[in-house]
Amino acid sequence: MSDESLSPSRYIEDLLAGQMRARSLAIAHRLGLFAALADRTCDVTGLSNTLGVQATGLRKLLVTLETMDLVRRLGDDYELTELARQSLLGRNAQSFGEFVDFFTDQFESKPISLLMNHLRFGGPVRPATTADQWRHYMAAMDRMAHLSADRIAETMQLDRDQTLLDLGGGPGCYAIAACKRYPHLNATILDLDDALRFAHQNVSDAQLADRIKLRPGSVTDGCYGGPYDVILLSHTIHLFDESSVQSIFSACHAALGASGRLVVRDLFTDGGRTQPALGALVAFHMWNEGDAYSVPQTTRLLVQAGFQPPRHVPFCDGEDPEILGSLLISAKAEPTST
Ligand SMILES: C[S@@+](CC[C@H](N)C(=O)[O-])C[C@H]1O[C@@H](n2cnc3c(N)ncnc32)[C@H](O)[C@@H]1O
Repeated sequence: MSDESLSPSRYIEDLLAGQMRARSLAIAHRLGLFAALADRTCDVTGLSNTLGVQATGLRKLLVTLETMDLVRRLGDDYELTELARQSLLGRNAQSFGEFVDFFTDQFESKPISLLMNHLRFGGPVRPATTADQWRHYMAAMDRMAHLSADRIAETMQLDRDQTLLDLGGGPGCYAIAACKRYPHLNATILDLDDALRFAHQNVSDAQLADRIKLRPGSVTDGCYGGPYDVILLSHTIHLFDESSVQSIFSACHAALGASGRLVVRDLFTDGGRTQPALGALVAFHMWNEGDAYSVPQTTRLLVQAGFQPPRHVPFCDGEDPEILGSLLISAKAEPTST
């Protein structure tokens, strides 16, 4: 959405400057600058020794961060602003630092030239994920769950359900939150091996290994086990193209019991696909391999797979990051009588 208070050239300049700001934030975060200022103020020399970088560049980085309201000058020293403390230090409930790493990996591994070629000629755009990138990816999902897993567990209303499949469950936080909230529930987390390593750790930390099974597999092979009372597909369909999503919904339908429900969580957009704005951005940055699906489009795919038209449930408020998305909850269609 354009800022009408800016002239057209200032507006474009501001968009381009956004990239420079994002890079400055990524570098400061990866250097450990915010963590280094967590409990103390520090001058440029002291900070350059702590971080192992040269003072000349660090001084400029600090000034940049000052313009971004992330640090403040106190004489020769720098300190974190409250905004940086709340949004970038892991010990804060609102921290989003894990997303800085995750987004930075995305930008670093997909240079513009690669994406231009992908747009022109198609073909895969997702490079192999390194061990560090998996760690950042799962840490970001973990963080998002920290902001939303309890609310999603509550919204799913699993009081009468025995079994939940967390499909593409990643670090497993939603299955864990659901099992904590509903003591009679057992869950299965299905994901790729690399992701399940993180789920294994979280499930064991939560002491829920007796109630949560890990099932290595691909959401695209349609073998989910079951029958389940509820399947949760959280932030996973945007990774796949429309025909794959259609197959995934059909496989979910087959894996659910007769009165089962499918809960799909994603960055669902409106029919015009511009709101929420982050949905439009994510749609483009999934390139040809995935999409941010609109509510009407997802409704059509669910109905074609045999589900009843879903309820659209926004479970977070305007203060929350848009990336938390919303839910579409569908019951299996009543069998037609002949
Ligand atoms: C954006 S993450 C969401 C993770 C989790 N559901 C959540 O909401 O935090 C997408 C998940 O889909 C998983 N995934 C991607 N491709 C997959 C596939 N072919 N089969 C199974 N899982 C897959 C990823 O490993 C990752 O855990």
